[in-house]
Amino acid sequence: MNWETRVTDLLGIEYPIIQGGLAYLAYADLAAAVSNAGGLGQVTAMSLTDEKQLQQEIEKVRSMTDKPFGVNFAIGQQRRPFKGMVQTAIDEEVPVITVTGGNPEPILAMTKGSSIKTMVLVAAKRQAQKAEELGADAVIVVGQEGGGHIGREDMGTFVLTPQVVESVSIPVIASGGIGDGKGMMAALALGAEGVEMGTRFIATKECIHAHQAYKQALIEAGEQDTMVIKRSLGAPGRVLRNKWTEKIIELEQDNPGFEVLQPYISGDSNKRYIHLGDDSSGFGWAGQISARITDIPSVKNLIERMIGEANDFRRTWSVGKERDL
Ligand SMILES: Cc1cc2nc3c(=O)[nH]c(=O)nc-3n(C[C@H](O)[C@H](O)[C@H](O)COP(=O)(O)O)c2cc1C
Repeated sequence: MNWETRVTDLLGIEYPIIQGGLAYLAYADLAAAVSNAGGLGQVTAMSLTDEKQLQQEIEKVRSMTDKPFGVNFAIGQQRRPFKGMVQTAIDEEVPVITVTGGNPEPILAMTKGSSIKTMVLVAAKRQAQKAEELGADAVIVVGQEGGGHIGREDMGTFVLTPQVVESVSIPVIASGGIGDGKGMMAALALGAEGVEMGTRFIATKECIHAHQAYKQALIEAGEQDTMVIKRSLGAPGRVLRNKWTEKIIELEQDNPGFEVLQPYISGDSNKRYIHLGDDSSGFGWAGQISARITDIPSVKNLIERMIGEANDFRRTWSVGKERDL
């Protein structure tokens, strides 16, 4: 079946499936696997230390795939100067740049006039309108089901997606809570022209930087097993529940501020769990979709399965209607 949408046309990909930025997890291996499977893979720039490392990672992706790929810039609360790295991505003529976590204006100003396609992550209608005004080629809406940083307004993907679709004319990609062909079809029915997934891609063979304990925890997670931390800092993010994240919530009751929370929520604390599997002193971002993850396929198998499910849905939908379902 044909999966062409404005998003596949814009990005030059076969299926409207995008791998979201994944801090300390999305390097060349995962990005290339997703792009080779017909989606858009991405390298997360802010997990790298400098321009040189980014340039090497881009080279590595190019040695593993000739398909389009993206570089993700999460610019909120970053101590690193991101502009130099954005310039590297521009100099390297990467096909796509995605931006999240702050005002995208400086990045969109830098990419203006280049052939790079830009997509901005948003969690509210007004942010999507602003991104369109600033010249973004598409927006990715992230509902509160999603793993990692989410919007402050707790809007779910099902309400946020059609709201944004109706408020901008650029293509919209739905994200947050999507992990299979059914979720993808639901997003398309809401008017999205593509989906972005984060958590689902962690539980794949090619996400080689994720510790086995993290992948196993995603498989075992039920609906009570994610929670939102950092609300007291105005930067909520969804994580897997463990003693460490329970402790963070306990501390947040008193609104202690960034300095007190920093050792608990730092990149090092994140890496202790996701790279080393130590859940007594670290945490891992994860979305509610972990309650529906049951295996660790290769990226190719995952995407083929999603497209198979979605094709079946498209074929049987008319049967469903005949049955008056
Ligand atoms: C472990 C993890 C790390 C993430 N890191 C980033 C990041 O660095 N940049 C970004 O734009 N989004 C990041 N996200 C958000 C994802 O790109 C994506 O928007 C989100 O996971 C979608 O929801 P889902 O987890 O339900 O698929 C992260 C998500 C997870 C689970």
